[in-house]
Amino acid sequence: MNIIVTGGAGFIGSNFVYYMLDRHPEDRILCIDCLTYAGNMSTLARAMENPRFTFYKTNICDRAGIYEIFEKEHPDMVVNFAAESHVDRSIETPEIFLQTNILGTQVLMDACRKYGIERYHQVSTDEVYGDLPLDRPDLFFTEKTPIHTSSPYSASKASADLLVQAYHRTYGLPVSISRCSNNYGPYHFPEKLIPLMIANALNDKPLPVYGTGENVRDWLYVEDHCKAIDLIIHKGRVGEVYNIGGHNEMKNIDIVKLICAKLGKSEELITFVGDRKGHDLRYAIDPTKIHDELGWLPETRFADGIDKTIEWYLSHKSWWETIISGEYRNYYERMYANR
Ligand code: NAD
Ligand code: DAU
Repeated sequence: MNIIVTGGAGFIGSNFVYYMLDRHPEDRILCIDCLTYAGNMSTLARAMENPRFTFYKTNICDRAGIYEIFEKEHPDMVVNFAAESHVDRSIETPEIFLQTNILGTQVLMDACRKYGIERYHQVSTDEVYGDLPLDRPDLFFTEKTPIHTSSPYSASKASADLLVQAYHRTYGLPVSISRCSNNYGPYHFPEKLIPLMIANALNDKPLPVYGTGENVRDWLYVEDHCKAIDLIIHKGRVGEVYNIGGHNEMKNIDIVKLICAKLGKSEELITFVGDRKGHDLRYAIDPTKIHDELGWLPETRFADGIDKTIEWYLSHKSWWETIISGEYRNYYERMYANR
């Protein structure tokens, strides 16, 4: 099969590229990525040596460019990871989120309609469900939970989901959607909580915790997410939504304290800063459907996953040091100075 993976130079997309090259030696992986600040060719260095991997530096909003790739490659499947993914940036500049996350999705699906496809898979997020209260640990997001978004990022992802479902109903496009909880692991861009705290702690810099640090996220090791998507595109039912999550809820403050302990750093580095606008309180996925239908279960326990992740950041310092020494410094200054 020829499988297009968009956003393959980013965090989860690159992990998926490596997962697929490894698990499906019969398939070709065609990566489309326009290399925004979040995309990095050094992340794909190993893949570039593989004859079954091809890279296209193309924006998913570039209709002519996308159609050209489809004409040349005749893809059997498309897995769309390409997105603006950081909530804080969406609060600062929403427009690019609407362009890439909604209109880019439309261009990809139009290409699928024009040239034909076996499956179009949309990588979505649990953030489309909004949040849950902190004092109701009995509540979880199911696939039937109403869409109720908080940030421009989550609103753009929810809009894309609705468009994907509309293309299925109206044009019969063979689609599927997955909504996953927070991922962590190798190649996670250092603007996000876990890699930011690891990088700052290693540099003895303040660890900026938003608000009280009581907000809860449901963490999943990135490889478990990749495995779930692989199952959905091959065995999942067309037109369906699948939630992905491993029942691993943790408060932000506990994650930050754990990172301090693992790196032998003082908790005095922790600095409480102004809260994120519209900050979602708690995410928690009910993964019953994907478990019952496809037999998916997470394989990496958080205790092991966080050790592997810290180990990866320790042994790949040049990867993240290059990132945080570039344009990222301006971003960090804008986002955290006077917060
Ligand atoms: P990321 O920001 O690390 O990577 C995004 C990638 O998409 C980058 O390589 C970037 O260059 C590329 N890209 C952005 N705009 C593009 C465009 N217009 N054309 C082509 N390429 C473009 O993101 P991530 O954390 O790996 O997330 C990947 C997907 O998974 C996103 O759709 C996100 O909404 C979803 N998701 C992420 C998480 C998470 O915890 N990170 C959880 C659930 C779902
Ligand atoms: O749930 C899935 C989502 O998870 C994905 O759809 C998003 O693409 C992904 O970025 C992630 O969103 P979050 O907003 O949950 O992730 P982030 O790492 O930005 O923040 C996690 C929590 O940590 C959140 O409650 C805000 C808090 N935080 C974050 C940063 C960057 C801090 O307290 N301090 C920080 O410096």
